[in-house]
Amino acid sequence: MLSPGTRVPLTIMVCIAISFSAQSQQINAYNYTLQKNLSSKNGVVVSAHALASEAGALMLRLGGNAIDAAIATQLALAVVYPNAGNIGGGGFLVAHLKNGQNISIDYRETAPAMASRDMYLDANGNPQMNLSQDGHLASGVPGTIAGIFACMKYAKLPFRQLVSPAIQFAEKGFTITEAQAKSLNDMRNEFIKLNTTVPVFVKKDPWKKGDTLVQKDLATTLKRIRDLGAKGFYEGITADLIAKEMKTGKGIITKADLAGYSAKTRIPIAFNYHAYTIVTMPLPSSGGIILEQMMKMIEKRNIALLKFETPQSVQLMTEVERRAYADRAKFLGDPDFVKVPVKTMVSEKYLDDRMKDFDPTKAGSSAQIAAGNIPESEETTHFSVLDKYGNAVSVTTTLNGGYGSRTVVAGAGFLLNNEMDDFSVKPGVPNMYGAIGAEANAIAPHKRMLSSMTPTIVLKKNTPYLVVGSPGGTTIPTSVFQTLVDILEFKMNTNDAVNKPKFHHQWLPDELYVEKGFSSEVKTALEKMGYKITERSSIGRTEVIRTDPKNVEGVADKRGDDSAAKD
Ligand code: GLY
Repeated sequence: MLSPGTRVPLTIMVCIAISFSAQSQQINAYNYTLQKNLSSKNGVVVSAHALASEAGALMLRLGGNAIDAAIATQLALAVVYPNAGNIGGGGFLVAHLKNGQNISIDYRETAPAMASRDMYLDANGNPQMNLSQDGHLASGVPGTIAGIFACMKYAKLPFRQLVSPAIQFAEKGFTITEAQAKSLNDMRNEFIKLNTTVPVFVKKDPWKKGDTLVQKDLATTLKRIRDLGAKGFYEGITADLIAKEMKTGKGIITKADLAGYSAKTRIPIAFNYHAYTIVTMPLPSSGGIILEQMMKMIEKRNIALLKFETPQSVQLMTEVERRAYADRAKFLGDPDFVKVPVKTMVSEKYLDDRMKDFDPTKAGSSAQIAAGNIPESEETTHFSVLDKYGNAVSVTTTLNGGYGSRTVVAGAGFLLNNEMDDFSVKPGVPNMYGAIGAEANAIAPHKRMLSSMTPTIVLKKNTPYLVVGSPGGTTIPTSVFQTLVDILEFKMNTNDAVNKPKFHHQWLPDELYVEKGFSSEVKTALEKMGYKITERSSIGRTEVIRTDPKNVEGVADKRGDDSAAKD
């Protein structure tokens, strides 16, 4: 057994299979490799961490379906990818079941009962963004465990089996990658500052690639959930520990908030795009609605003729993004609390009107292009799963910022989210992603904060063709949009669609962000049209599964340690 801090060799290579012993049903968590591309005759899982993908693939091998694999992957991510994988956060699941049914489960966090509209404003009405982003007061009531149990009715394997890899990784540890070592070291001071006891993520000496991270408290929490179901999280010892942590750190989540949380089954958005049906997440994620708006605004414009990464195609997509994000800021919020004019926002007439002032020769202006006129309403993680039966699952889950609030529940070993920052703290004041919101996304007790997460499945003749999604805050819908346009319109191969440079415009600020590697000629041409262009490090980490009549192909984004595994 390896003890915490023991260094073992960790090989990271592209396109080499993960070491795995089917007999023992134990995954080798001390010696694994990344697999960026694979093809399979059966099922595939692609996620932000090789061990989480392998946990899902193990369930497929054991006779489980894509839902089983998704549950095991989500739980494993909570251990091996604490930046965003979680049981202290929330997420959304979109699935296409083999019987043809499309489902979506909303396990977004909610504002605690004691939350109020102006809770992050000081006496002069100025926003104190540190309170909505750092530490105890930043957390919404976690939804992940409720979401997982809401999915169990579609699963084949017992929960005990699905949680077993996560317990193994937490109890016996796993070796961390170079990127993880750097990320934990970068966060060291925050972990010390924002916790009442020093969490396992802080070590005396700096973390190094190949060190073993053991999370005993988290293993105990996962065992309580294994033995007691959702009550092992929302009631009893875990709820006591969360409430105690809140009291110590001046947070406001109570045991009543936890006991009162429920995940919701929502009707997914499903719309046609040429010969495809795109199934995606409805509110309280903005992602699905704005993805539909963006796809529909380009559908009649024959973008394929403009070709990938030309000034013309990038400009059209940028202007479409600008208009969709302006609508997001004004109209979107939790549909259980505000009336949102969804039908109008995605109607043909409305979207035609939105594009009436589009000029293909020059940059639009966010000062002039506000939200449409409707009469009266980075760190997240995505994984994609497909099984051999024809079930497809697309899940995006988050703590919001990297490591969420950076606060670990003492004694329970898991990080809490800082999702309250996804509310509009004050109308017109940007959140950590620079997104602004209005009354529709104001804070209210028990309300769900608006999200950008866009787990999506594309169907061809009513069977799964693509399973896609990405992390990245407000860049999520544009990453999914561009991946779909690259594959469906530009006929790009999956690897390039995932890994070629992306760009992003979100109305405000009125800037076009491009990734490093974006064509400098196209950049110059766009600047001539009047665009202000800012280069940024990375946009999204897209995990795609694509099917063809013979094979299933999984592609894990090169931007991180993301990795694919197969049945
Ligand atoms: N916290 C990022 C999102 O939900 O969009």
